[in-house]
Amino acid sequence: MTPISSLHRPRRLRRQSAIRALLRETGLRSTDFLLPIFLVDGQGIRSEISSMPGVFRHSIDSALQLCAEAVAREIPGVLLFGVMDSQSKDAQGSASWQSDGLVQRASLAIKGQFPDLLVLADACFCEYTDHGHCGVLNAHQDRDDPATLENLQRLALSYAEAGVDVIAPSGMVDGMVQAIREILDAARHENVAILSYAIKYASAFYGPFRDAADSAPSFGDRRAYQMDPANRREAFRELQLDLAEGADMIMVKPALAYLDLIRDVRERCDFPLFAYQVSGEYSMLRAASQAGFLDWQGALLESLLAIKRAGADGIISYAALEACDWLS
Ligand code: PBG
Repeated sequence: MTPISSLHRPRRLRRQSAIRALLRETGLRSTDFLLPIFLVDGQGIRSEISSMPGVFRHSIDSALQLCAEAVAREIPGVLLFGVMDSQSKDAQGSASWQSDGLVQRASLAIKGQFPDLLVLADACFCEYTDHGHCGVLNAHQDRDDPATLENLQRLALSYAEAGVDVIAPSGMVDGMVQAIREILDAARHENVAILSYAIKYASAFYGPFRDAADSAPSFGDRRAYQMDPANRREAFRELQLDLAEGADMIMVKPALAYLDLIRDVRERCDFPLFAYQVSGEYSMLRAASQAGFLDWQGALLESLLAIKRAGADGIISYAALEACDWLS
């Protein structure tokens, strides 16, 4: 560090808004954001998620309107999640990889109407399995990873055929990136990219999402495959593995409670890095501001800025549209 004179007075550089603007080190732009979208079957549906005020489940027609709002704000992409009714779920999560499945139909519709908007799709089974775990279970009720990887390949192929630009595997299945890369390349979908949820912790902050996506495990929890929040060095092994397997981009999740990991990954690799401001982070800020304890705009933008300052290139946020309205 540069030696500093004890006569230096930092306040000289903070006095006017012009000098603060001149010296600002980081900032947010609309192109930093990806907007997650919860999809449901049907027509004309836009139903608010009770644990996430201001976030809705959308039928495809309504999702297209949301995409128009994203495009208007120059948000570069959306991240799709399918929400299933209970009759569509089974032990394998087979509704996820149908060529006429919900996410597949949504992707085709979005690419048809907004060809320049990137479509990312979350690749996991917990929204599609009747037991709510992120894959196939064996006789011991433990996840069967080889069988799950085969299903993940079916899912990835169906996404690629539906025009998805970026596949985002989120199940923390060892070998998931390689399995997806291999099937994509074998089927000549070499231009489809992989954003790996490489560093994903077993977090209580996913609570509202599981309500939104009806994806809570019916027994047990996800600690046998998601990371222990106590661990930092383990994240570097996850990072190395996913890069070796061919991940194009890396994600750290959640964001605000894991800013140290965002900084670690930024310093250790040159690949594009995303952070997911997860459902619990959103709901926490929303609820506190609805109760009058926090200023929503200020607390939201400060959190997003902190994620960017920690080293994220991009942020997945349920509040992306609102944040963009306040940036200029
Ligand atoms: C699917 C998935 C989850 C989230 C993203 N993809 C839930 C989970 O792992 O339990 C969480 C996103 C959020 O909380 O906003 N596995």
